[in-house]
Amino acid sequence: MPHYHTLGKIPHKRHTQFRKPDGNLYAEQLFSTEGFSNDYSLLYHNHPPTQIIRTDKPVNVQPEIAEEKMLQHRSLEGFKIPPEKDFLHSRKPVLVNNDCHIILAAPQLNMGSYFYKNADADELIFIHEGSGVLQTMYGEINFGYGDYLVIPRGTIYQIHFSETNNRLLIVESFSPIRYPKKYLSPYGQLLEHSPYCERDIRVPKNLQTHDETGDFLIKTKKKGMLYGIHYLHHPFDVVGWDGCCYPYAFSIHDFEPITGRVHQPPPVHQTFEAHNFVVCSFVPRLFDYHPESIPAPYNHSNIDSDEVLYYVDGDFMSRKHVTRGMINLHPGGIPHGPHPGAVQKSIGAKQTNELAVMIDTFHPLQLTTTALEIENEGYVMSWAE
Ligand SMILES: [Fe+2]
Repeated sequence: MPHYHTLGKIPHKRHTQFRKPDGNLYAEQLFSTEGFSNDYSLLYHNHPPTQIIRTDKPVNVQPEIAEEKMLQHRSLEGFKIPPEKDFLHSRKPVLVNNDCHIILAAPQLNMGSYFYKNADADELIFIHEGSGVLQTMYGEINFGYGDYLVIPRGTIYQIHFSETNNRLLIVESFSPIRYPKKYLSPYGQLLEHSPYCERDIRVPKNLQTHDETGDFLIKTKKKGMLYGIHYLHHPFDVVGWDGCCYPYAFSIHDFEPITGRVHQPPPVHQTFEAHNFVVCSFVPRLFDYHPESIPAPYNHSNIDSDEVLYYVDGDFMSRKHVTRGMINLHPGGIPHGPHPGAVQKSIGAKQTNELAVMIDTFHPLQLTTTALEIENEGYVMSWAE
């Protein structure tokens, strides 16, 4: 949950007459992702956000499941996902369950002709390669390498990339993505022991008001279908807003690692949480400083969760043959740990430059047909080499 923010012009009192220079009323919209019972924002539009002029035939974008059940360590070569021109076509779900979809994407072009709204899921977009601007009805957020973009479900947006070489890791979350509860005060401030704080959160800026009439297509995702809905007015016709529900950016490079004399467990890397999964950031840090410490992680049995590690950059102390964009899945139920030789090699090491994103789901993930196309065969036996 981001904190209260306001941008542009808003009336002194909510739900009161707020008039344009010509005397007509602005159209107020309450925007929340959990009914009227949680964080919300109030937006003031030049035109009501309800004026549909036509609709297209829906398109099925449901992920194709290849393996519904399995108990095997898996490894995927994320950068083998082929680049595609269109942002929505480029999104390839690889691991999915009822709580989240983990998606890889290599979009090449800007979303010039349409807008996008995910009505099902909050989106967490991790920028592995590329830069650009996220344009929304709340304003703009510039992004670059290492940024997490958190976009509440229902937010209308366009992504504009600065170049064609873009690599994204996207998590669709079917519940709100929040800061970890353990780092929040009872009233929602990020506490002193949190690895990041409000200053690290980048909120929308540069609110551009497009008071335009025409045919504006919002591709809207709902229950695995993409609906083309055409509106009479530009969706970014907001003159002002305030509240606690809006997109924001947080850079993985601003995550301050928590270290100790001996190996710290994965929860110290936690960055976000949602219902039934968490997201962690592994960032460059000093290793453990007990004179007899073992920096490499111990073997562990994650009985209750599937662990997904997405490798971003740097050296990975616990594994061999790691490539950028690789995804390793260690399912709950069988233990995993460092590769042979990694424990001994780690002793005496002072620091790591690893950069990785981890997603731990509390229910098993399913593999899609795309995941099988980019799979490294034989990974399950790699500890016995
Ligand atoms: Fe693990």
